[in-house]
Amino acid sequence: MKNLREILMQRRSIRKYTTDLITKDEQKSILEAGLMAPTSKNSRPWNFIVVDDKETLEQLGKCKKFGAMSVAGCAMAVVVVADSSLSEAWIEDCSIAAAFMQLRVEELGMGSCWVQIRERMFDENTTAQQYVKNLLSIPEEMEVECILTIGHKAEERKPLDPEKALWERVHQNKW
Ligand SMILES: Cc1cc2nc3c(=O)[nH]c(=O)nc-3n(C[C@H](O)[C@H](O)[C@H](O)COP(=O)(O)O)c2cc1C
Repeated sequence: MKNLREILMQRRSIRKYTTDLITKDEQKSILEAGLMAPTSKNSRPWNFIVVDDKETLEQLGKCKKFGAMSVAGCAMAVVVVADSSLSEAWIEDCSIAAAFMQLRVEELGMGSCWVQIRERMFDENTTAQQYVKNLLSIPEEMEVECILTIGHKAEERKPLDPEKALWERVHQNKW
């Protein structure tokens, strides 16, 4: 099993998946990573919708013109939704939970990709969020942050080069 540093150094966004399924135990363990994530004032404003129905995944993959190509072929998608009335920090809370789930996926030897929904458009008139809400019967007052696509890797991606890390963006004691 990889340690956390290895996971952090080797993780890449994976957009192509095999047809292998994710076991119920693995599914539960991924969701647990999100449910255990820290949140502002412990408000836990997120909801996670697990989608593994092929037809629904295909429809979900049409939520925006670009950048949703990983959805239709994934084994499972987790749609990250917030009740923004519970916290003004819902974007941060959802992002941390999503990132925790992505790290757990990597630890389990699988791959994932973040598909941005918030602030994205389905077409000229309809937001991607509205499209996802309609498709999954999400209550109108909720906010859809992103979709995580998850599955067994069908592509190998080289780890990022640590030599190219932007150390110049790190400031010491002052800007
Ligand atoms: C907030 C956020 C939004 C993203 N949106 C998308 C997206 O809509 N579609 C997609 O294929 N990848 C998306 N990604 C993945 C990025 O493209 C990817 O993390 C980046 O290119 C760096 O590559 P790496 O993850 O392999 O290191 C997103 C990542 C983040 C953190």
